[in-house]
Amino acid sequence: MRRPLIAGNWKMHKNIREASEYIRELNELPWDDSVEVAVIPPFTCLFAFREARSRSRIRYGAQNMFWAREGAFTGEISPLMLLDLGCEYVLIGHSERRQIMGESDRMINDKLRLALETGLFPILCVGETLEERENGNAKEVVGEQVRQGLQGVIPHPGVVIAYEPVWAIGTGVNATASDAQEMIHFVRDIAKKEWGSQVSDQLRILYGGSVKPANIGEFMSQDDIDGALVGGASLDPKVFADIINFRST
Ligand code: 13P
Repeated sequence: MRRPLIAGNWKMHKNIREASEYIRELNELPWDDSVEVAVIPPFTCLFAFREARSRSRIRYGAQNMFWAREGAFTGEISPLMLLDLGCEYVLIGHSERRQIMGESDRMINDKLRLALETGLFPILCVGETLEERENGNAKEVVGEQVRQGLQGVIPHPGVVIAYEPVWAIGTGVNATASDAQEMIHFVRDIAKKEWGSQVSDQLRILYGGSVKPANIGEFMSQDDIDGALVGGASLDPKVFADIINFRST
């Protein structure tokens, strides 16, 4: 049985004070402990999560990392610095970084391998653009992102993959649960070919893109969908808690 993971990606939102308030509020709300909850705030808010760690049930991680442990890389963040802050997870290859910052599959693969080597759980983000979907290339694109992202990686059940179709991110237009299931099943099949079924059966594969309390139940009822990577709807702790409590909403 794979434990559901609901992760909130705050992107470039909130300051330290807002993060501390959010941590307090979300911890005060009731949520189902069979679900793992993680928040992925901006770097500057990570210390608030670390400070609250002893009284918080929220796991946390970073939105990006560099592919080297240390060195002359002005403006970059090492995975060792993230571990120092108590991070467990790190997003790798979010579509906003692929598209706006020009991250390549090669960079993403380098980051993913170092994340695992240093002890962080990578959340590898993949997804096709609207044009790629309309041209019928969605599976080819996503398949290639998964294969290249995992290239040379020792099979590891702690890797998380998030399927986030670019056209569904921040648009309010989510993929249908059956389309998401089909793609996520396809992704699990690739992992099975690369890593064998023992590991691929344990991998958690999330859906992301306009997830909200009204649609989470349908996604979570699909066989291969193990959770969600939530953007906008994770910014309000009450709305996020409604998503976490998908079994009762
Ligand atoms: P939205 O939930 O705002 O569509 O964002 C999804 C996302 O990019 C999470 O990483």
